[in-house]
Amino acid sequence: MCGIVGYLGFKEAKDILIKGLSRLEYRGYDSSGVAIMNENLKVFKCKGKVSDLQNLIGEQDTHGSVGIGHTRWATHGVPNNVNAHPHLSSDSRIALVHNGIIENYGSLKKELESKGHEFYSETDTEVLTRFIEQVQKDNECSLEDAVRIALTQVVGAYAIVLVSVNEPGKIVAARKGSPLVVGVGEDKEEFFLASDATPIIEYTKDVVYLDDEEVVVLTKGDITITDIRNVARDTYIETLDMELEAIEKGGYDHFMLKEIMEQPKSIEDCLRGRVIAEDLHVKLGGIQQHLPDLLNANRIIILACGTSWHAGLVAEYVFEELTRIPVEVEYASEFRYRNPIVGKGDVIIAISQSGETADTLAAIEMAKERGATILGVCNVVGSSIARASHEGAYTHAGPEIGVASTKAFTAQLTVLTSMALMVAKEKKSISENRLSELLRDLEQVPAKVEQVLKLDSAIESIAEIYKDASNCLYLGRGYNFPVALEGALKLKEISYIHAEGYPAAEMKHGPIALIDEEMPVIFIATRDSSYDKVVSNIQEVKARKGRVIAIVTEGDALIPKMVDHVIEVPNIHEMLMPMISVIPLQLLSYYIAVMRDCNVDQPRNLAKSVTVE
Ligand code: G6P
Repeated sequence: MCGIVGYLGFKEAKDILIKGLSRLEYRGYDSSGVAIMNENLKVFKCKGKVSDLQNLIGEQDTHGSVGIGHTRWATHGVPNNVNAHPHLSSDSRIALVHNGIIENYGSLKKELESKGHEFYSETDTEVLTRFIEQVQKDNECSLEDAVRIALTQVVGAYAIVLVSVNEPGKIVAARKGSPLVVGVGEDKEEFFLASDATPIIEYTKDVVYLDDEEVVVLTKGDITITDIRNVARDTYIETLDMELEAIEKGGYDHFMLKEIMEQPKSIEDCLRGRVIAEDLHVKLGGIQQHLPDLLNANRIIILACGTSWHAGLVAEYVFEELTRIPVEVEYASEFRYRNPIVGKGDVIIAISQSGETADTLAAIEMAKERGATILGVCNVVGSSIARASHEGAYTHAGPEIGVASTKAFTAQLTVLTSMALMVAKEKKSISENRLSELLRDLEQVPAKVEQVLKLDSAIESIAEIYKDASNCLYLGRGYNFPVALEGALKLKEISYIHAEGYPAAEMKHGPIALIDEEMPVIFIATRDSSYDKVVSNIQEVKARKGRVIAIVTEGDALIPKMVDHVIEVPNIHEMLMPMISVIPLQLLSYYIAVMRDCNVDQPRNLAKSVTVE
């Protein structure tokens, strides 16, 4: 949440900062701002999107080749011009941008007020800026020393970037709990800073991922990293494996649609080298070392939030079925606060697209401390959860920019199913025939997803009929129950229609009371072990005049006679069906949101990377 950028070099900073903020806008879009250093600091900031900031700047003089920028997802204080970042010291000589939350800002503020500081905003960030200013004054030290001293007294999460007119030609940045990447230009003549690598890749592929409690000082030709106690740290430069096209819309109207359409490729990429059905080969290189822990696990605990949690629910069914290891799936945000029984012998699988979700990160840190083995399933390479895990497997879906997760979900299912098959094979809890059948089906998923994507315009026509609904119910059983949850989440996230996902059989314990001729009910009713039961549930809805849209298996002769609309998907093993049956639901939500004129890629109040607790 919140995107931050910085630039120091020889080009005009403004253009690089604005472009970088646009790339990071998925992290928050309540307000944005930049501070550019010349003889003085020029600060431009306003409520709204980066495009509003661009309008505000207009033709004003922004000359300068050192600067910082921010796009905000509001935590402390409403989205307005004053609360927008950058925040300034009382003499307006230091500017700071921040992603995270300073938990002890109240006590710091009181202390600073007693020393005469006046505050204009409601933010914790302004307090941090003033605190660093005060520390620098009290200790008569450099900006980096002031940052280090201040941060030893700060409680909370931060990624911060600062510039000071008193020390021109320098950027100081630090992180704890919120991500920060440094891009290193040729001969270290220029540096880029950003919350993730997307604003950096068009300039350089050499990056340094900062670790928690590290402080970096950038000057032309030099990068120095220490921890907040001033102990030197190595500068480990990594090469980014990402292409610019991956973060552009490539002709699509929205990132979400592009990412939905990319799924055959992202699933294929995810399977590459890991699954070869012909050779009965299934192997995730990243979990080799801890495979014995998985084989001997007392229990697997899956921790995740949002869409990733839905992938975890599918994985629970798959792992238990194939490996016979007991699995629990928990919201990371609940798990970490309830003193759970966890320790040696337990394997945690943490699922996270961004790899930065604060609750998931904190939950795995807690489980790690108590002796559990942590395996990460992340999409963003080098992200905090990936690095905090003992081992893991990347989903290789490529950058996901639309706030509503689509291709990350199917890639997570691909990795988790492969992982379960790998464990089952090693544990011999699966027969060779069954393994072979499942691996063959898994290899066919990309082609079958491609087939479903061709239903695009048929789904668009159904969207037209239901675009004005105020409520929607999604029902499924077994492997398709988490798909019902995911379908409902997609709809409410981007179209603001109230939607609920429910296990189809539970409908009669409550939601059935909501059904009338106004209520669209979406059944995920593919041919699987609970098919007959789902058919009965459909009849129960129809008997109460509900409007039913059913996702069915190709060739189903029964359900189409009972319902208002059918969407046929190709047949596949029921365990793999969620990767197929979720696709029409993604498209349906997408088209409904577009028809309702909603901002599909940046839905209100949401952010893609939730780095606050
Ligand atoms: C936010 C995003 C969701 C995502 C969830 C978990 O709510 O909008 O799309 O599923 O966070 O994020 P993670 O990066 O941990 O998968």
